[in-house]
Amino acid sequence: MDISKSIRYVGVMDREIDLFEGQYLVPDGVSYNSYLIIDEKCAVMDSTDARFADEWIANIAAVLGERTPDYLVVQHMEPDHSGSIAAFRRAFPSAAIVSSEKAFAMMKSFFGEGIAEGGIRVKEGDTLPLGEHTLRFIGAPMVHWPEVTVTFEEREGVLFSADGFGRFGSTDESDPWDKEGRRYYIGIVGKYGIPVRNLLAKLAGKDVRAIAPLHGPVLTKDLARYIELYRKWASYEPEEEGVTVAYASIYGNTGRAATELAEELKARGKTVALFDLARCDVHEAVASAFRFDTLVLASATYNGGVFPAMRSYIAALTERGFTSRRVALIENGSWAPAASKTMRELLSEAKSITFHEREIRITSAPNDATRAEISALASEL
Ligand code: FEO
Repeated sequence: MDISKSIRYVGVMDREIDLFEGQYLVPDGVSYNSYLIIDEKCAVMDSTDARFADEWIANIAAVLGERTPDYLVVQHMEPDHSGSIAAFRRAFPSAAIVSSEKAFAMMKSFFGEGIAEGGIRVKEGDTLPLGEHTLRFIGAPMVHWPEVTVTFEEREGVLFSADGFGRFGSTDESDPWDKEGRRYYIGIVGKYGIPVRNLLAKLAGKDVRAIAPLHGPVLTKDLARYIELYRKWASYEPEEEGVTVAYASIYGNTGRAATELAEELKARGKTVALFDLARCDVHEAVASAFRFDTLVLASATYNGGVFPAMRSYIAALTERGFTSRRVALIENGSWAPAASKTMRELLSEAKSITFHEREIRITSAPNDATRAEISALASEL
């Protein structure tokens, strides 16, 4: 993960964590990336979760040898990146923290007043010369917190992109990136499409040769592709044609209908992702709904509304700005079906949703009539 001889990796890999941010599954762990720029002055870019303070400080010391860092650049105050700031100050008391005014305010609320002493406040466009390297600070508010700054190192063309372009799991650039990059972006930054587009516009004229995020691999190849993915995600455009079929089933009958639909769609050549919302990684199902242009929701009726897994799924979509998709509904109800009506109501918080005209109602279990409807729906989609 070293970027060059003078931009070294000093981050850590967290394989102990059960849930990132208390909700995201990370079966392959998550890295807290930190980089050390070695020059006349030495700057450390961001810190790590507090549980890894000792390892991170040891990484810095191992690279620097007799030297000590001059600066700690804090781009983002979420504790996965800021948890070790106080430990850094104890280990390297002569180093100055470099950050935005808003970040210093947060730092004080996390660590107390003393943490900001001797700090250097930077704002949009400010530069920090290190010798041959120069850091230029670019405001990135709400990508993903309001205090975020990203940093462009002008000599080597490295964009230190904070949470942007991060991903869960592997830090190996040659591993497939999209699935976990998408799940990370949609889950964590997805709500903030406009701020992400603003940041992309600011970066447009920069000669970016490497992107060094705070999670996942340093990106050095095919950067235009990642930037285009980010543009699409931040604009809420589907990445490609395809159907997410997400179901919430109590005894399996609704699930059977959803599975039959998925099979019918596949038989017609469609790209399909099928999710049992009560058992899947719901954030993968959320990312899938943003990835494809069509979403099919199938739910049992429950307590006069919708099954809980479906309610929380739709909430997870709408709170992230889900928009501009085609949605088809399948409901099941043995005596007073209300799932479709409830799903429509829950989705009313999403803009520009086109509901597919055919809605399927199952009474208790799929039968020949509903199977014919499923087949017709598959043809229409
Ligand atoms: Fe990776 Fe918003 O923290």
